[in-house]
Amino acid sequence: MPEPATPVTFPPAFLWGAATSAYQIEGAVREDGRTPSIWDTFSHTPGKTAGGENGDIANDHYHLYRDDVALMAELGLTAYRFSVSWSRVQPTGRGPAVQRGLDFYRRLVDELLSHDIKPALTLYHWDLPQELEDAGGWPERDTALRFAEYAQIVGEALGDRVEQWITLNEPWCSAFLGYGSGVHAPGRTDPEASLRAAHHLNLAHGLGTSALRTAMPARNSIAVSLNSSVVRPRSQDPADLVAVRRIDDLANGIFHGPMLHGAYPETLLTATSSVTDWSYVLDGDLALINQPLDALGLNYYTPTLVGAAETATDGPRADGHGASDHSPWPGVDDVMFHQTPGERTEMGWTIDPTGLHELIMRYTTEAPGLPLYITENGAAYDDKPDPDGRVHDPERIAYLHGHLSAVRRAITDGADVRGYYLWSLMDNFEWAYGYDKRFGAVYVDYATQARTPKSSALWYGEAARTGALPS
Ligand code: NOJ
Repeated sequence: MPEPATPVTFPPAFLWGAATSAYQIEGAVREDGRTPSIWDTFSHTPGKTAGGENGDIANDHYHLYRDDVALMAELGLTAYRFSVSWSRVQPTGRGPAVQRGLDFYRRLVDELLSHDIKPALTLYHWDLPQELEDAGGWPERDTALRFAEYAQIVGEALGDRVEQWITLNEPWCSAFLGYGSGVHAPGRTDPEASLRAAHHLNLAHGLGTSALRTAMPARNSIAVSLNSSVVRPRSQDPADLVAVRRIDDLANGIFHGPMLHGAYPETLLTATSSVTDWSYVLDGDLALINQPLDALGLNYYTPTLVGAAETATDGPRADGHGASDHSPWPGVDDVMFHQTPGERTEMGWTIDPTGLHELIMRYTTEAPGLPLYITENGAAYDDKPDPDGRVHDPERIAYLHGHLSAVRRAITDGADVRGYYLWSLMDNFEWAYGYDKRFGAVYVDYATQARTPKSSALWYGEAARTGALPS
């Protein structure tokens, strides 16, 4: 008889969560004083999203949040990561808070707490109030100051009941997809602006962290969620290793450099000098950005494979972030992106759990002593209900099993990973891809708003309840 496989078990305090974000699920875009964010404007601009889809109704979570929390509790989740819509709280991006907006999040959090689900609140998941974009957006310093004010407001309102705080979600996407390739809102394609945006997002993180510290009880934990790339060379050829350095600096070092170490990588400053002079990095900024953090959030989906460009016309492409004539990599014209071999998800992203292990171990070295959370990981598949209404998604179970096993291996290797948030709790608005790409553990029928847990949700719930991966 074959030996039974050793069960993959997790520490008792490990958090088993799921994640979502405001614009992707809430809907109710004109209710209770909310005004447009850059994603409302962008998704209503013809040609910007698949099928012209938008978040006007999305999952109608603004009205259905009680049912959604009950579902999480039924599944057995112990944590939930959501984001606050800035435009609900400060419709113009400045000035006094709208209480009705804050009240929604108070109700949501209280509902979570009453079901023993730990809330993790992200302040910014890409939905800048449109008025702030009209005033220049993230390339302007003032946006970072406005973010600190917003952080203060939300910290004062919810700091008594939310312990886990995340300033920004994936600032790389905000800066380089929003202002570089233009595949995300606000859809600008200006390499210099994308670097200015990156700096002001860093500054927003630093100022926001300080504002939260003064606004909230000291026991609360403050983190940031980075989509740090695992950048691998196509070969050990020195030219390919240079390509790795170029992309690693622009994907990772540009954020974790100032946030964790108080400096931009020298190689980044040199490599981008033809695009920008970095004069908007003012004296004292790096110290403001380099705030002590209580944890670090890592979002991981797939590794990135790069090599030196072979011909003068080779440029960055096929990097998995959506089609555009404009590159999200400012100043990079000598790098080629390659498809990592192996099975892929519906996004075309190669499945490789070894990348998650590598990423965790990197930050275990890069930020010793800082607790880590996997704040996003998951997969899109073309899920459909079968004739009896059930949704079977064995591929997603395999994806989760592989990646959670990689997390477990990293813990065994000495990493301090405290929790995992599956992306996503339920199918939702996948930005420029619209509703077609289903990342949920729970299936959503958008015509009726009915939620149906897929088999992966049941599998994940069992893991959450037992602390071990079901085989
Ligand atoms: C990253 C983002 O934070 C989230 O909003 C998005 O839906 C997932 N990745 C999947 O692309």
